[in-house]
Amino acid sequence: MENSILLMAHNILRWAVLLFGLYTITKSARGLMNKQDYTPNHNMAATLFVASVHLQILLGILLYVGREWAANLPKIGEIMGNTTLRFWTVEHAAGMILAAVIIQIGRTKSKKATETAKKHKTALIFFTIGLLIILAMIPWPFRAEVGRSLWP
Ligand code: HEM
Repeated sequence: MENSILLMAHNILRWAVLLFGLYTITKSARGLMNKQDYTPNHNMAATLFVASVHLQILLGILLYVGREWAANLPKIGEIMGNTTLRFWTVEHAAGMILAAVIIQIGRTKSKKATETAKKHKTALIFFTIGLLIILAMIPWPFRAEVGRSLWP
């Protein structure tokens, strides 16, 4: 598929990840505080968040290879001194994959938990940490050198 279409999709999907993330985190926090049952709605919110993250990672990997950032890996020692090359070759990809792993672990643990409060609490903690890492690794427009636009 054309690189630029993938890049547009990756740019836009970031908003779905952020919205679903905020939505499911808010739902777990309220579920925990108000001692609510873990309902199919809670489950659906978490599913949407995890699915959007997975899709975003897949698009990211395609871009990483397609736009030749992966080709920098053999000369990793030389590129680490360059902020832009380091961000795209290492920081963005590794940070986002770490966030996805944390989110996936939280999802699995929350599903396995039998106590309702534990389901909400596990989701709340792991999803919040994951979302914070995602927020830190997005190339926001105000970021010097690596900043990108909010919409394609
Ligand atoms: C939740 C996870 C992720 C989010 C929210 C995210 C977000 C973004 C955003 C907002 C952009 C800028 C798009 C633009 O320039 O219009 C971008 C670009 C990019 N991302 Fe991600 N990303 C994620 C995961 C990943 C992963 C896991 C990889 C690699 C394995 C990756 C690789 C890339 C690449 C290669 C670019 C384009 C850089 C370029 O060549 O211009 N992303 N990402």
